[in-house]
Amino acid sequence: MKILICGGAGYIGSHMVKMLSEAGYDVVVFDNLSTGHREAVKWGTLVVGDLLNKSDLKALFEQHDFAGVMHFSARSLVGESIVEPAIYYENNVVGTYNLLEQMRHSGVDRFIFSSTAAIYGNPENTPIDEAHPKQPINPYGHSKLMVETMLNDYARAYGINSVSLRYFNAAGADPSAQIGESHDPETHLIPNILRSLLLEGIQLKVFGDDYDTPDGTCVRDYIHINDLCQAHLKAFDYLGSHKGAMAFNLGNGTGFSVMEIINAVTEVTSKVVDYSVEARRPGDPAVLIADSQRAVKDLNWIAEYTDIEKVIETAWRWHCQQSY
Ligand code: UFG
Repeated sequence: MKILICGGAGYIGSHMVKMLSEAGYDVVVFDNLSTGHREAVKWGTLVVGDLLNKSDLKALFEQHDFAGVMHFSARSLVGESIVEPAIYYENNVVGTYNLLEQMRHSGVDRFIFSSTAAIYGNPENTPIDEAHPKQPINPYGHSKLMVETMLNDYARAYGINSVSLRYFNAAGADPSAQIGESHDPETHLIPNILRSLLLEGIQLKVFGDDYDTPDGTCVRDYIHINDLCQAHLKAFDYLGSHKGAMAFNLGNGTGFSVMEIINAVTEVTSKVVDYSVEARRPGDPAVLIADSQRAVKDLNWIAEYTDIEKVIETAWRWHCQQSY
């Protein structure tokens, strides 16, 4: 079965490509390499192209007969989205619209979409389930919610069936250490801690220690990248027998504060993390924890990495191999 992975050169997409290839799928990666890495596409076929270029899409779908599409291509920095919202509406909304239109034209009707906890905005309760009000507080979250809205309409009107997976904090790397998390600039907590241990003269900044949490630092729900990818595999199967536009949260259901993550990194690496406490980062909610029971029940999915140190260990192994 041939599957198109848009954004397969990025962090989550490249792990998905590996898992699908190992499960026997024929994988085609479509990526403009703006934030992804050519060297991360170690499995499948890479086609360099842009979702904003309709002729790239037309040629791609004419050349291949896809059973379905998984869509990881997106700009995903909250701060950047506030300063440059146009980039987010263009890439995340218009790009996805072009892709869906091409799918419609080519008769491809299975779609897995990378959504985000950012569609919920500031949590009104915790843990967050799928029924929580959707009130994004930044253009990134808005752009993802707009696509979810489109997907509801495309399922009803055109029979394009979809699963939106609302990620909490993706973390870790494939245990083989062949692929991992690499962004430029890097803004995520775990890679930033690990880089501070490996790079000369880099000190970790802790953004705020005066939140209403047990130790004052923000609490997040970290889910291992391969658990996340497993859920995509299950969601793809689910679409074989379920019609409509469905959505599932994906998290571990356990929160860790920034300080707890720093301490867990020390446990894993036996290194002391040098950090300074800085002002809060704008737009950071104090606590984000997922209720993923719907995915457990309907997709028959279960997170295997429930130990945060095991998650960090996989990331550390990959980071140690990078030539910083
Ligand atoms: N943090 C630091 N120092 C750093 C990096 C992060 O203290 O160098 C803190 C942040 O302030 C936050 C926590 O660590 O409190 C986690 O930050 P990340 O940037 O790793 O992750 P976020 O929770 O901000 O982002 C995640 C996803 C986004 C998504 C967002 C939704 O990565 O794609 O949740 O709110 F938009």
